[in-house]
Amino acid sequence: MKKVGFVGLGSMGAPMAGRLVQSGYQLVAYNRTRVKTEPLRGRAEITSTQREVAEKADPIVLMLTDTQAVEDVLFSSQGMYERMASGKTIINCSTILPSASKKIADRLKRKNVGYIEAPVFGGPQMAARGELIVMAAGEREKYEEVLDVIRTFSSKVFYTGRVGTALSVKLGLNLIVAVHGQALAESMILARKTGVDPSLFVQILNSTGYKTTLSEEKGPSMVKGDFHPTFFLKHMFKDLNLIDETAKENKIFMPLTTQARISYLAASNLELEDKDYTAILKMLDELNKQS
Ligand SMILES: NC(=O)c1ccc[n+]([C@@H]2O[C@H](COP(=O)([O-])OP(=O)(O)OC[C@H]3O[C@@H](n4cnc5c(N)ncnc54)[C@H](OP(=O)(O)O)[C@@H]3O)[C@@H](O)[C@H]2O)c1
Repeated sequence: MKKVGFVGLGSMGAPMAGRLVQSGYQLVAYNRTRVKTEPLRGRAEITSTQREVAEKADPIVLMLTDTQAVEDVLFSSQGMYERMASGKTIINCSTILPSASKKIADRLKRKNVGYIEAPVFGGPQMAARGELIVMAAGEREKYEEVLDVIRTFSSKVFYTGRVGTALSVKLGLNLIVAVHGQALAESMILARKTGVDPSLFVQILNSTGYKTTLSEEKGPSMVKGDFHPTFFLKHMFKDLNLIDETAKENKIFMPLTTQARISYLAASNLELEDKDYTAILKMLDELNKQS
């Protein structure tokens, strides 16, 4: 059986790698911070360098923070690129800039290394259940070759076409979540400041046709002030910057993106980066404090 590689065992990468093992794949895995490989001990081959993954496995899944992290892992002086043999494939699940993704694909192609862009929608719990929604882009033939690997951690996979398109869809989805998160937070503050218990507001919202997964799953924890992260606020801010940059590159007017970016920037400035993105509520609370 072929060995699948995995680099980046963070909040999302760890459960996704776990799904690959549960599905019977032999896994070769690396994480920069060694302690995060512990849950895979005895179930996967853990390497000391990312280059060993490049040498031993194919295809190789990347689940890394941002564009810089993906470029470092592939192209830095200790990057995988030098050790990637012709014919291997990278499956990049990280949310990065679509135009950077295209450049990465082009650079890998010079060595005949395949590249499938495969950002995911859904949090760590959905990853652990194999229920992520995946958007995939790249050469159709390569996509079909690696589809079984992607299916281990996803319940739905959509092929979107050329590299860059899957990330555009992913960023569009995250814009909706970011704006929705802020709207929910503002509505809860409006309720509280006008004498309505925010938990009653959430209960009423969740009885209407406008309830969402966000209002049902995050509404009650926001009421309690529980901002334990499933999706870091810093990553939401990163994604809003990616949308903003993509809008500039394509000369698209996106006023809500600009507004949301400023709000998540304000939250980052209040050191809420490592909380859940719904801590946007905490930022609004701070700014609405009465003297
Ligand atoms: N969390 C979610 O709900 C969610 C949902 C969909 C998509 N995403 C996207 O998925 C990606 C990963 O998110 P996450 O929540 O799993 O983030 P995370 O917990 O912060 O994990 C990030 C991973 O990237 C690694 N990394 C960062 N910079 C690196 C570098 N320069 N070299 C090597 N490794 C590096 C980290 O290694 P260390 O452990 O050494 O720091 C870690 O393994 C992000 O692009 C995010 O936007 C997240």
